[in-house]
Amino acid sequence: MMKKLLILMMAIISAVAMLVAGCGGGEKKAETKVLRVGTEATFAPFEFQKEGSKTYDGFDMDLARAIGKQMGRKVEIVNMGFDALIPALNAGNIDLVAAGMSITDERKQAVSFSEPYYTSGLIVMVNKDNKEVKGIKDLEGKRIAVQIGTTGEKKARTVKDAKVTAFNTNTEAAMEMKNKGVDAIINDSPVVGYYLAQGGNATAMTVGEIMEAEQYGLAVKKGNDQLLADVNKAIAELKKSGEYDKIYKTWFGEVKK
Ligand code: ARG
Repeated sequence: MMKKLLILMMAIISAVAMLVAGCGGGEKKAETKVLRVGTEATFAPFEFQKEGSKTYDGFDMDLARAIGKQMGRKVEIVNMGFDALIPALNAGNIDLVAAGMSITDERKQAVSFSEPYYTSGLIVMVNKDNKEVKGIKDLEGKRIAVQIGTTGEKKARTVKDAKVTAFNTNTEAAMEMKNKGVDAIINDSPVVGYYLAQGGNATAMTVGEIMEAEQYGLAVKKGNDQLLADVNKAIAELKKSGEYDKIYKTWFGEVKK
């Protein structure tokens, strides 16, 4: 009888001990849980790798790291194809997308977006010696390079009789145009502007106006409302503290109001 009681008591004690340990361990894990941020890093000045460097630079990268810091979570950047980002989010392989991703109705069916954090738009880039193309209307029947899965690709596919080539990276698209393999590129205006300013203007230029405005948002898996709320809260705090403006100035020179 005594022996049975003793065994029972010991079992209860060890169960309680396990429970306590389990809880403690769980909490600690949540605190230091890495925030896995997916991107496609051929999109300077938003995300890119300097030649020979393994680190990720750019506005989105600084913003993502600042958001992680605000949330007390370590940020790990995961680089992949742009068209792989939404599937990776939904498969649970990454927690957040920071990739200059435009908020579109179509994407809203698949993921949830944060508050918009940057206003962008598409533009056409051609080789400097191109005398024919003055804007998107002149691209009919022409060869256009884009990055796969982007709003630029969508736009290019609306051009009548155009031969659209979708590349995995913007680097490849730019190379193809330089080699005269295509007549034009459709890409986001701030990225094209940065490319030209970094030396691309030796051979390339933009034509026409910026096409309608697009808003960039950070994306989370649908239903991940807690993370979305935390991200929006972090952005608001970074704006309030002046940290957002500081990051903005680093990459765009001046603060856009
Ligand atoms: N803003 C465009 C889009 O959402 C292009 C984004 C490309 N981003 C990148 N990191 N390569 O489709």
